[in-house]
Order: sequence, then C-alpha cells, then structure tokens
Amino acid sequence: MEIGALKLKSRVFLAPMLEVNDLPFRILCKKAGAGLVYTGMVNPLSKKRLQLDDCPALQIFTNDSKGVREFIKKHEAKVCLFDFNLGCPSKVARKLGFGAFLHEKLELIEEILKIMRSTTKKPITLKLRKSPNAFKILKIAEKYVDAVAIHPRTDEQGYSGDPDLNFARLFKSKTKLPVIYSGDVDERNYKSLLEEFDFVMVGRRAIGDPNIFSRISGAGKTNFDYLDWLALEERYPQPFRQIKFQAMFFTKRKKNAKELRRKLALAKTKEEIRRVWESSF
Ligand SMILES: Cc1cc2nc3c(=O)[nH]c(=O)nc-3n(C[C@H](O)[C@H](O)[C@H](O)COP(=O)(O)O)c2cc1C
Repeated sequence: MEIGALKLKSRVFLAPMLEVNDLPFRILCKKAGAGLVYTGMVNPLSKKRLQLDDCPALQIFTNDSKGVREFIKKHEAKVCLFDFNLGCPSKVARKLGFGAFLHEKLELIEEILKIMRSTTKKPITLKLRKSPNAFKILKIAEKYVDAVAIHPRTDEQGYSGDPDLNFARLFKSKTKLPVIYSGDVDERNYKSLLEEFDFVMVGRRAIGDPNIFSRISGAGKTNFDYLDWLALEERYPQPFRQIKFQAMFFTKRKKNAKELRRKLALAKTKEEIRRVWESSF
C-alpha cells in the first residue's frame, strides 16, 4: 500500500481541514492509526510559520505559480507528500479564484502541477470536487501526480447534501491513478468504500475524535482526549484561539458537552480551560 514511493500503514487518512488539523491533532490521528495526515490548505505566499514535525501531506492553496517552487523547496525535507487544493468552496476561495473556483483555468492548473512535479520527488496528490471540468483536470493530473482525491460534492453544495458516489465511481473508472475518496466517510461505510476506492479520507467525523482511526484500523485501541492534545501543545505551542477551538471540538462525544462548552466559552486562559476540562469529569 503506497502512494508513489511513500509506504502507508493504513488506507484511511485524515482529510485536510483548515483550523482543525494543527500539529498536535495530526500527531494524535497518526498515533491512532491514520495512514496519512493532511494539513489544512496553505497559501505558498503566506508568511505563517508552519509546524511540520510529523511529516504530513502539505496542501497548497493558490491560483498563482509564483512562490510554489520556493515553498516546496523550503518545506520538502519535513513533508511526506504535497497536495494541490482544487476543492475549497469558501467565499474567500470564490473571491480569490482559488480551490474549486480554479476548475476553469486548465492551463494554470497544469502550470502549477508542472512546477510541483519538477521541484520535488516526493509524491503529489490533487484534491478536487465534482465539477464539469473534473475529468479534464484528471487527464492533466495524470501527467504529474501520484494519486487524486475526489470529494463528489459541487462547490454550490459546500459540505451539505449527499456526496455523489456515482460521480466518484465514474471518476475512478476513468483513471489508473489511485483514487482517494472523501465525503462522509465513517466507521460504518469505510469498508465498503475501500472495496471501490484505493484510499479514503475522514474529515468531520475525526474532529474532536482522533480515536476514530483506531476504531477503524483495529490496530491497538487508543483513548486520546483533550488532555492528550494539551500535552502535545506544551511541546508544539498553539495560539489561545486554537487551544479553545480544540477544547470545544473534543467535547463532541462527552455526555455533558453542552454545559462543558458553555464553561469553556467563558475561559480566558489556557489554565482556565484545563481546569474546566479536568473538573468536568
Ligand atoms: C472545518 C473544515 C475545514 C476544511 N478544510 C479543508 C482544506 O483546508 N482543504 C481541503 O482540501 N478540504 C478541506 N475541507 C474538506 C474536507 O477535506 C473533506 O473533503 C470534506 O469535509 C468532506 O469530507 P467529510 O464529510 O469526511 O468531512 C475542510 C472541511 C471542514 C469541515
């Protein structure tokens, strides 16, 4: 089981998620058994410092070939794989012509992929949505990438409505590239999806619940919780906003989630958040 030369322990990945997939969270998902963990999307021209100690799949978000080569060279040593985002449906992406709104610009897509391919020997994936141009993009991608991820919802659908599994099947039937399926993957459907697709990605179901990967892989049950995330945060510091976000996310499977979230919302420091969490169980 591999993508390019990258050997993988599991065919189930953590999907790219901005504001969710910080380094401590990715580490927990990997320890729980995720075969590959993606970062959220990153604009190569952004000055933000990246934390990449876990050898993630680093996702590039741009509509400009400028800076892509330098970005890859800068981070290559710490990254297991590079991904190109052609799926983001957000208002910002629409305004900038990034992500899902780049689907019309086939020449530009090819230019960026060409730069990626000529800069790194690391595997490359491309993640895209259902769109009229998806098959044209697939043909271009075949020249440059090692696998392709499909989230079969349109940009108008965003993250709601049913993913179009038949579209993803058709997509898979049109290529010899390994196909990574994304869209509502969970413990109930991953097995049957893996009969049809080479890999699957778990997105929202993993938020606040990295243990989903150990429940899926069955390789050693993990019982990670927010305090495990906080322990890693000591080593890989996160902004206060992120500390609070993750605390909120991790309330997901708790019985007293509503009450806990109310108290967390009022917390002003990391220590307060820790106290609220510890005193709630
Ligand atoms: C909070 C959030 C952030 C996301 N950020 C990204 C991103 O940065 N790049 C990307 O390609 N997809 C992003 N996605 C889409 C997911 O990777 C995934 O394709 C989508 O959520 C469908 O899978 P799911 O039903 O398992 O969540 C994001 C989704 C969510 C919910």
